[in-house]
Amino acid sequence: MTSPLHDVVDAVYVVAILVFILGLRAMSSPTTARQGIVTAGIAMLIAVVVTFLSPGLSNFAWIALGVAIGGLAGFGWARVVKMTAMPQMVAVFNGMGGGAAAAIAGVELLGSLRGATADLSVAGAVIGSISISGSVIAFLKLQGWMPSKAIVLPARQVVNFAVLVVAVGFGVGAVGWLRPEYLAPFFGLLVLYGVLLTLPIGGADMPVVISLFNALTGIAVGLDGFALVSGPLGDAGYAMVIAGVLVGAAGSLLTVLMARAMNRSVGNVFFGAFGATEDAGAAVTGSLKPIDATDAATLMAYANEVVIAPGYGMAVAQAQQKVKELSDLLAAKGVTVKFAIHPVAGRMPGHMNVLLAEAGISYDKLFDRDEINAELPSVDVVLVIGANDVVNPAARRKGSPLEGMPILDVDRAKTVIVIKRGQGKGFAGIENELFYGDNCRMLYGDAQAAVGQLVTALKQS
Ligand code: TAP
Repeated sequence: MTSPLHDVVDAVYVVAILVFILGLRAMSSPTTARQGIVTAGIAMLIAVVVTFLSPGLSNFAWIALGVAIGGLAGFGWARVVKMTAMPQMVAVFNGMGGGAAAAIAGVELLGSLRGATADLSVAGAVIGSISISGSVIAFLKLQGWMPSKAIVLPARQVVNFAVLVVAVGFGVGAVGWLRPEYLAPFFGLLVLYGVLLTLPIGGADMPVVISLFNALTGIAVGLDGFALVSGPLGDAGYAMVIAGVLVGAAGSLLTVLMARAMNRSVGNVFFGAFGATEDAGAAVTGSLKPIDATDAATLMAYANEVVIAPGYGMAVAQAQQKVKELSDLLAAKGVTVKFAIHPVAGRMPGHMNVLLAEAGISYDKLFDRDEINAELPSVDVVLVIGANDVVNPAARRKGSPLEGMPILDVDRAKTVIVIKRGQGKGFAGIENELFYGDNCRMLYGDAQAAVGQLVTALKQS
């Protein structure tokens, strides 16, 4: 495939790939992440536009229609989605990628069931189909349209394994015996397997699941790219291979890191059915002890050190600007203020870092779990703002749905003040004995309003 136009297209793909890598690199730091997203978007745009110039491409009108529908839907949704609903949007977009990869593999297989291309398409179809149906279940759970609890069907391990083996058998059979009629059960069973795989995974583990499906989608796209390389649009195949490998590699790393943050192995997340049982030891004793903003502000103003532990409630209330004001006021009174950041606080990786950076809180004030846990027992006041699961001591108890998840040990501080609206549970849906502890006081209210009251009280003191 050598024509001047091909060479130009190839060269532009190389440029797109380099820009894509630069974007990915910028995403690795919260300060440059926004710029990284824009850079990667530009790379994708370059790759899409240059594909239209590929010699041999036809069906322009259909492609343009698809691009317009998908582009407008994605643009419209991304503009209105709330930051806290981002994971389910990411789940759907991942799923679409997996579905597209499965569809490409399907078209390739319908075109030819022979040769190495067909084998690669079968592999792409397996991964892409599981990714789309699994992502849809993840979306429904995160959106609250189905229970986020783990749903465990009888003999699930055996049934799931059997479904996967039979599905792959149909795929191998279709290629081995040139039987196109096997393709429908092949795809149908794979979609079913994605559903069965994801149903027994509880809500708290969904970040890991989404990340893994993201990685799988990348791998499926990469495999499809290999399959396309020998076709008339071979160059576009190379671009897909590289984009797929990048997504697959970055997604796999993120999956492992997030599983580690939950103190689980990836296998345990997928096959352990965590969160399926009610927490037998969850009965809490004691009572909830309210405090008003004036008393809470006084406690903090007289402390040597205040640690702020933000969570999902701070994000949903968009309280970060008020939190910055609060930390500045405390610092002006000579109080050392630190932020305790849990890796899965909120609803997406780095959620708290992004919000606090947006409010202008400097990075040297943010401490990760291991750093801050060591000093929490000597901290005078911890202010928990809309966090629940990530500060739930139930994680230390065997049999709890949060068992083993590393938490911020805020219950060990001298005094804990918790801002939340009422008795709502955390994402995992279980009680939190921290709130009933002798050292804990509840400051009820929306996070933005409650932090605002603290700011007012501090200004008046
Ligand atoms: P959660 O466990 O979700 O708890 C949030 C708490 O905030 C709730 O108890 C709620 O109580 C309170 N709240 C809600 N709206 C509020 C508002 N406007 N003002 C004040 N408080 C409000 O949060 P977390 O501790 O950050 O834990 C995150 C959970 O989400 C983990 O289980 C994690 O696995 C999961 N998850 C994380 C991610 C990532 S990657 N970060 C993605 C998906 C899921 P009230 O209703 O009483 O106010």
